Amino acid sequence: MKTLLIAGGAGYIGSHMNRVASDAGYRTVVYDNLVYGHRHAVQWGEFVLGDLEDARQLESVFKHYRPDAVMHFAAYAYVGESVTDPGKYYRNNVAATLTLLQAMRDAGCGVFIFSSTCATYGVPTEVPIPENHPQDPINPYGRSKLMVERILADYDAAYGLRNVCLRYFNAAGADPEARIGEEHDPETHLIPLVLDAALGRRKDVAIFGTDYDTPDGTCIRDYIHVDDLASAHLLALEHLLDGGRSRAFNLGNGQGHSVKEVIDCARRVTGRTIAVRHEGRRPGDPPMLVGSSRRIVDELGWKPRLADLETIVGTAWKWHQKKGGASS
Ligand code: UFG
Repeated sequence: MKTLLIAGGAGYIGSHMNRVASDAGYRTVVYDNLVYGHRHAVQWGEFVLGDLEDARQLESVFKHYRPDAVMHFAAYAYVGESVTDPGKYYRNNVAATLTLLQAMRDAGCGVFIFSSTCATYGVPTEVPIPENHPQDPINPYGRSKLMVERILADYDAAYGLRNVCLRYFNAAGADPEARIGEEHDPETHLIPLVLDAALGRRKDVAIFGTDYDTPDGTCIRDYIHVDDLASAHLLALEHLLDGGRSRAFNLGNGQGHSVKEVIDCARRVTGRTIAVRHEGRRPGDPPMLVGSSRRIVDELGWKPRLADLETIVGTAWKWHQKKGGASS
């Protein structure tokens, strides 16, 4: 049985990864400081409370569990905050990642899967965005992720650290059995906020910008179910464990949905009234982000199973009702 260390495995995407990897027969070890993660989201494998900046604890974790591979989800991901407090993002998303990579080198662990983002592309000049699109991020969050991608290329060349960078589009949805789901505090993401409004926990939902150059004037995003993200990670892991070379892959469904379409979809799925209010544009929002995931489909045989927006929102709704709404 292979052992997988999941840094940030108590967070939204990491906790789904932990479930999917455990179901696939991996021994999983979640390493998380619980700053944003939730202990109750770690329902599979083992849990170690720890910080990525703690080199000594990382060393003992690598000695004790001897992981065959590492997946790294432990990053800050609030784009707006990254603009006002870039130091926090470079320290956590870049410097702490270096500490993790050093611990891997010291332990002789040479397989790494990295959570990157479509935010590394900045404002796209071509849609759907392919992986060879120029990477020119427009905020410190995106830059911090791109820096790690560059570091990984150098570490592969110099130290043989084979890695896969997965550039997520908009992760959404929840475990279809609603054992875990999206649980950010503060919550800034569209779908949980819309579902909060459906539950009556918010009186309405803001639409940030109705004057974009898109068919209905609102921003378009490519929503991908968190379980489909996790299944792509498993394929990437198998690719590297089989001796495959380092790669970068987009992860999206190649389907764009506007903010208004997401809200209409949530009205259908929930059967509830969802009031909206129109606000100005949110700084740093590109009008349209849609990815081409052809490369991972062709190379690794990835098949998204929950690609339909109603299915994505439906799983989120099931979880949201159970949880009782976003925390703030
Ligand atoms: N939006 C609203 N009202 C809200 C919240 C969001 O209209 O209350 C809009 C946003 O302006 C955006 C869309 O809904 O157009 C989606 O917004 P999210 O905040 O849900 O997601 P983002 O596209 O901003 O962010 C996602 C990831 C980030 C990542 C980013 C890359 O959550 O981690 O994609 O652009 F950096």
